[in-house]
Amino acid sequence: MLSLRQQFRRLTGQPGPFTPEPGLEVIYRDLFLRELARLGEEDRFFPTGGAANYSLLYLILRIGSEFRPVSVLDIGAGQSTLLWAMLQRRGLVGDVLTLENDPDWAARIGAQVQHQVLVTPLRPVAIGGRQTQTYDWDAVRAGRSFDVMVCDGPRGTPRHSRAGILAMLDRDIPDDFALILDDAEREGEQDTVAAVHDRLQATSVDYAVGVVRAAKSQAVFAAGRFVPATFL
Ligand SMILES: C[S@@+](CC[C@H](N)C(=O)[O-])C[C@H]1O[C@@H](n2cnc3c(N)ncnc32)[C@H](O)[C@@H]1O
Repeated sequence: MLSLRQQFRRLTGQPGPFTPEPGLEVIYRDLFLRELARLGEEDRFFPTGGAANYSLLYLILRIGSEFRPVSVLDIGAGQSTLLWAMLQRRGLVGDVLTLENDPDWAARIGAQVQHQVLVTPLRPVAIGGRQTQTYDWDAVRAGRSFDVMVCDGPRGTPRHSRAGILAMLDRDIPDDFALILDDAEREGEQDTVAAVHDRLQATSVDYAVGVVRAAKSQAVFAAGRFVPATFL
């Protein structure tokens, strides 16, 4: 079966909707730093290596400060966690839950934030007829629902990467939500972007999709009051 990128290339002759634009990283860096300064916050972030790049930090900062989510699920601890914690400390977002599979990394990041960093080891689960390694989603839900989810964990895989996120679309999709899938330029994540589309298409949810491209690409799915987040 052709991947989303291969299908797009075949149909349009273009490399793909999620092809990164590394030259834009500096633009998102400027916008991120400008907005941080406007909030009176120091720039203590390290968007390097496997951490969130500037376009993801920019998206989180704008969604946090402009849309004021009530309950955030931050999947994969790191710079994103520190940023959500700052937004929460400033009263811009409500509850934040970070999900992490590595106990040492969770402890290191958890020591720097006030909100819960839930550690759940990865385990094999069948999702959409495929085996994948994912978190304990029942422990994540535990009666909670989230209007913003940022999926940046666990570590990516060559195909059907981070497919576990589909478990959060099984039931009770809020009327107003945003779901950001990081690393959308990768083939494995594109499988999951396509699967999220399929899952949402099978519901009555009226959603929109956007993409932000810099050093890495983010796919943004949104419904209700979060739809403008697909144009950021
Ligand atoms: C892409 S990273 C998550 C990045 C995070 N959302 C951020 O904004 O920086 C995915 C996973 O890699 C692992 N990881 C990332 N950075 C790490 C580090 N410096 N040391 C150990 N594990 C790390 C964690 O298990 C994390 O959940």
